[in-house]
Amino acid sequence: MMTPEQQRITAFAAERFGPKAVTTDPHDIEPWLIDWRRRYQGAAPAILSPGSTEEVSALVALANDLGVALVPQGGNTGMVGGAIPPADGSALLVSTRRMHRIRRMDADANLAVAEAGVILGTFREAAEAAGRRFPLDLGARGSATIGGLVSTNAGGVQVLRFGTMRALVAGVEAVLPDGSVHDGLSALKKDNRGYDLNQLLVGAEGTLGIVTAATLRLVPAAAARAVAWVGLESPAKALSLLRRLQAATDMVESFEIMPDDTVALVLAHVPGTRLPLAGTHRWHVLIEAVTSDPAAEAPATVLERMLAEAFEAGLAEDAVIAASEAQAESFWRIRHAISEAERSAGPAVQHDISVPVEDMPRFMVEGGAEAEARFPGTHAIAYGHLGDGNVHFHVRAPKGVDRNRWYAEDAPHITRLVHDMVVAAGGSISAEHGIGQMKRDELARLSTPARMAALRAIKTALDPKLILNPGKLVALAPETLSK
Ligand code: FAD
Ligand code: MLT
Ligand code: ZN
Repeated sequence: MMTPEQQRITAFAAERFGPKAVTTDPHDIEPWLIDWRRRYQGAAPAILSPGSTEEVSALVALANDLGVALVPQGGNTGMVGGAIPPADGSALLVSTRRMHRIRRMDADANLAVAEAGVILGTFREAAEAAGRRFPLDLGARGSATIGGLVSTNAGGVQVLRFGTMRALVAGVEAVLPDGSVHDGLSALKKDNRGYDLNQLLVGAEGTLGIVTAATLRLVPAAAARAVAWVGLESPAKALSLLRRLQAATDMVESFEIMPDDTVALVLAHVPGTRLPLAGTHRWHVLIEAVTSDPAAEAPATVLERMLAEAFEAGLAEDAVIAASEAQAESFWRIRHAISEAERSAGPAVQHDISVPVEDMPRFMVEGGAEAEARFPGTHAIAYGHLGDGNVHFHVRAPKGVDRNRWYAEDAPHITRLVHDMVVAAGGSISAEHGIGQMKRDELARLSTPARMAALRAIKTALDPKLILNPGKLVALAPETLSK
């Protein structure tokens, strides 16, 4: 049921921008109202789908006048419920899916301008077609959008060499909560005009503006790559192996750690996945090394030599270097299928955490043991971006629990324990996924008053009516919104 104000804005969108700009059929809206992990169910009487920055600007300006809440949404692959509207139907979704032009692809300048709705996989292919590479990759590459990646400051599996989205964004165009357009796309090498509004919008999760386009940095195309799967004994040995590799070469782009039972889960649940090693190992690492220099030593040769030395040093137990692109992709398929496999393995509570890299091996082992001791029957696993000091620390429910009761009663206590351990280790409760609605209360609980006051001041300064993505990131009562 729409409020009169929501009716006005949807009628305005349909009249001014045509029928494609509005979806009110509940059947078409429904798939966009639940997050990828099926943890947050929202409601929205309509989806607005503007086709240009000007259309976004007109819609947001009207929404601001009327006090109508808007939730920006790209691919809806976010992991913290950030793109899911409130369950009371008080917000409209604004989808960027119709804004999917690549406005510029400039190989000489190593820059491109992509609109918010461009899908990551599409953008990566366009960069390759232009003889360049966009060095950010993650398991949701087929759905995640540029606007979502900017707004969550996404990480992924190439952060080790190229940083998160923040390092790859050279400019941002966005519509601010009053409908005005921040045009920050010109990728000037130096621009010191006050606060960096582009970087403020990176990671703002749709609470400070709707990103409509971004200028993104490109890197030279890969001349050669090598992908290795390594079996080893512990996270500590994995980190020593990484440090050896990094001391010997700058080619290492990915270094993903996985415990054996997580690999086993993928092999059991995801058709077509096959472990490249014969034996069993308590831990596995997927390594990718890439060079853009055709004259450089082949990454496969470098990895071969380094892994032989690692065997000598007792760091690695077994290893396979992919013999073909197809085999390399089969290694990555196992890694990127973890989230999918986990969904079919029953209830679990996920934590995307970071601690100082050197402390991560100990945290993975001791933190897991602590969680399992405090919550008997649970099973803690940690996998992911070891070299970034970021793992996905998931705690699986005991077998046979009532899913809803466990999520309602046990999971919050497990999360508080994990987050307390992370903060005690000098870490962050969100390494790459953001805060959304999932971690909003934990952010408030575990942040200094100074940090929360500053975050809230920024939010209320730019969005005094709290119309953009209410209830996400910083908890503020939207009493000023029209119900
Ligand atoms: P959505 O989910 O649609 O939105 C995410 C947030 O951004 C919401 O708060 C939304 O309101 C806001 N938003 C979206 N578009 C805009 C816009 N144009 N303007 C303003 N705000 C906007 N993430 C990682 O960081 N690293 C990983 O390794 C990783 N792996 C993943 C693997 C799988 C299988 C899946 C399903 C997800 C993974 N993710 C990962 C999470 C997710 O892909 C990222 O958070 C991604 O950035 C979300 O993009 P999206 O377009 O789906 O955004
Ligand atoms: C990953 O690295 O696989 C993603 O961040 C998703 C997840 O947390 O499972
Ligand atoms: Zn991740």
